[in-house]
Amino acid sequence: MRLVVTGGAGFIGANFVHTVIREHPDAHVTVLDSMTYAANRASLDGLPADRVDLVEADCANPESTGRLVGELTGPRDAVVHFAAESHNDNSLATPWPFVHSNIIGTYAVLEACRRHDVRLHHVSTDEVYGDLQLDDPAKFTPATAYNPSSPYSATKAGADMLVRAWVRSFGVRATLSNCSNNYGPRQHVEKFIPRQITTILTGGRPRLYGSGANVRDWIHVDDHNAAVLAILDRGEPGRTYLIGADGERSNLDVMQLLCELMDHDGFDHVTDRPGHDLRYAIDATATRDELGWRPQHTDLREGLRQTIDWYRENRAWWEPVKERVEAQYARTERVL
Ligand code: NAD
Ligand code: DAU
Repeated sequence: MRLVVTGGAGFIGANFVHTVIREHPDAHVTVLDSMTYAANRASLDGLPADRVDLVEADCANPESTGRLVGELTGPRDAVVHFAAESHNDNSLATPWPFVHSNIIGTYAVLEACRRHDVRLHHVSTDEVYGDLQLDDPAKFTPATAYNPSSPYSATKAGADMLVRAWVRSFGVRATLSNCSNNYGPRQHVEKFIPRQITTILTGGRPRLYGSGANVRDWIHVDDHNAAVLAILDRGEPGRTYLIGADGERSNLDVMQLLCELMDHDGFDHVTDRPGHDLRYAIDATATRDELGWRPQHTDLREGLRQTIDWYRENRAWWEPVKERVEAQYARTERVL
């Protein structure tokens, strides 16, 4: 099995490559990554050089993407498309890279898969569905209408629409998945959970947007990637699969849990994110029933404990970028 994994030097993609190499002894992976600020070469450390290549290129470049996809000729070969600009706060400050990577990048990947008749799995987000009220009994399902709020989620929604159109119009053999908030090792320190962990480890005060009432539906990155592998194996082309682990928690709850686990006192409430989505919640029943996939890391406290340990033990992975990330936040963030 040969896979081209776009965005494979980022958080979820790199963890996916580690899982594939560990669980599929016959697999070879080519990581296609433009190595933006969000990528980290060290995330691919420890992988066998004869089974993993890193090609530094923009997936929106039709020549390099077409060449790599054209090398996939076996019946189980596929492209797994993780590459994207992924951080909402950045999309509010500078939207263009989101349009480029998420929409033009997905277009180029689709055209390459169409030309070479290669199977594609497109990795997307629950944010395409917009947000829910705190007391809404309904969760997102594959039938929920798209209603994205931010430049990030709007470009992911646009990418999903391109994939659906290429399936219907050109018969591209693509599946889609929309997953909730991931946590785990190798996540960039700009994101909520690693930001607070690394802030405490460097002697600072954690930062909660607004009151912290916003709810996210947390899933461990390994559970997300296990679902992606199940879709590659047993998913039906043209279908959308929702991935979530019934892990709804308010940001305030998660903050308090992190402080407790790290034996830390006190955090600051800071200016809220403009247009901040209130709540996400995934109904993954269809994915569970049809693919037999089940999340394994359902104890958030234990998952966070292991994640904290990972950041404690891997300071060289995140320390070089921590100061720059905090300086960027400091330009707009005010303590309330
Ligand atoms: P990330 O920002 O950690 O990594 C993204 C990777 O894509 C980086 O390595 C970056 O260099 C690469 N990249 C960006 N633009 C590129 C381009 N034009 N060409 C090639 N490579 C490019 O993101 P992540 O959190 O790992 O998210 C991966 C995917 O999963 C994204 O598509 C995201 O929308 C989706 N997703 C993320 C979450 C989450 O909670 N993080 C949840 C659901 C879905
Ligand atoms: O739902 C899936 C999405 O989850 C993915 O598509 C995105 O790529 C991923 O970044 C994530 O988006 P969020 O915006 O939910 O994640 P983030 O880690 O940025 O923030 C999580 C919540 O925590 C959100 O409500 C904002 C809040 N927050 C964030 C930061 C960075 C804080 O309260 N303080 C912070 O310092």
